[in-house]
Amino acid sequence: MPPLAGRVAVVTGASRGMGRAIALRLAEDGADCALIYRKSVEQAREVATRIEALGRRALALALDLREPAQVGPVFERIRETFGRVDILVANAAATAFRPMLEQKEHNLHRTFAISVDSFVAAVQAAVPLMEGRPGRIVAISGIDSHQSMAGHGALGAAKAAVESLVRTLALELGPRGITANGVSPGFIETDSSRFYTERGLKREYSPAALELIERTPVRRLGTGEDVAALVAYLVSDGAGFLTGQTLLIDGGITIVSPLHRPAEDLSSR
Ligand SMILES: NC(=O)c1ccc[n+]([C@@H]2O[C@H](COP(=O)([O-])OP(=O)(O)OC[C@H]3O[C@@H](n4cnc5c(N)ncnc54)[C@H](OP(=O)(O)O)[C@@H]3O)[C@@H](O)[C@H]2O)c1
Repeated sequence: MPPLAGRVAVVTGASRGMGRAIALRLAEDGADCALIYRKSVEQAREVATRIEALGRRALALALDLREPAQVGPVFERIRETFGRVDILVANAAATAFRPMLEQKEHNLHRTFAISVDSFVAAVQAAVPLMEGRPGRIVAISGIDSHQSMAGHGALGAAKAAVESLVRTLALELGPRGITANGVSPGFIETDSSRFYTERGLKREYSPAALELIERTPVRRLGTGEDVAALVAYLVSDGAGFLTGQTLLIDGGITIVSPLHRPAEDLSSR
């Protein structure tokens, strides 16, 4: 019996990148999936088709998380289709990568509406549907919550708020058998990391990626599947005593001293 058989997972931003990999992994582990996306209808349908081919149920739902008031009605559709929710993965995010002095008010609102307001709205809609079985909430944060990165001021602030919310939710929902955790990825190969490298950092992708690989202890970039494997653990029955934490998954890059010279290969000494 797959570990998540009979469970229902809601994954936001499931049409592309990490959200897609997370939804496919949870489906492989046995969960039926509600897939939330904004505009990539074909890609969301393709994820749904792959999940159905695994023998699970899938429902792709368009929802613009810039509008937190729309979250409740979409969860009503999820309740009508699946009857319950066991797992909520709040993964979607979007921002404009700009220095704070050039940041526009509407972008600050948009960034926080997606990552913070709609996360709270989704938790409020999902928790009443989690009664009776161990519930799991996972929010995807990012190293920008605690490391300064060019153009990441708005998103990093929103992610820091998400990590704080994870601790509060762990405290408030623990007595109901619901855990809440964050996952903080380093550089993961997706559309948005390529976009950020080229538009935010104004660098060519391949040389920037190679430089990063040289500085990363495991000598590669992260994949959506790496993140999905951690999410799969956090939502499993075995992770019931782990709550209120945000776990870094970055190939080790944030533990490396800035004094370390990338070309040094300590293992060959
Ligand atoms: N990639 C990295 O290196 C990295 C590192 C650290 C943290 N993260 C975090 O990891 C998460 C996923 O990142 P990613 O790189 O996989 O992103 P991505 O490839 O850009 O995909 C973003 C997903 O979010 C959805 N989305 C965007 N705006 C939305 C909105 N207003 N309403 C509903 N859905 C919306 C998109 O839907 P559509 O396809 O319909 O637009 C898409 O499914 C984000 O929270 C990001 O901040 C990423």
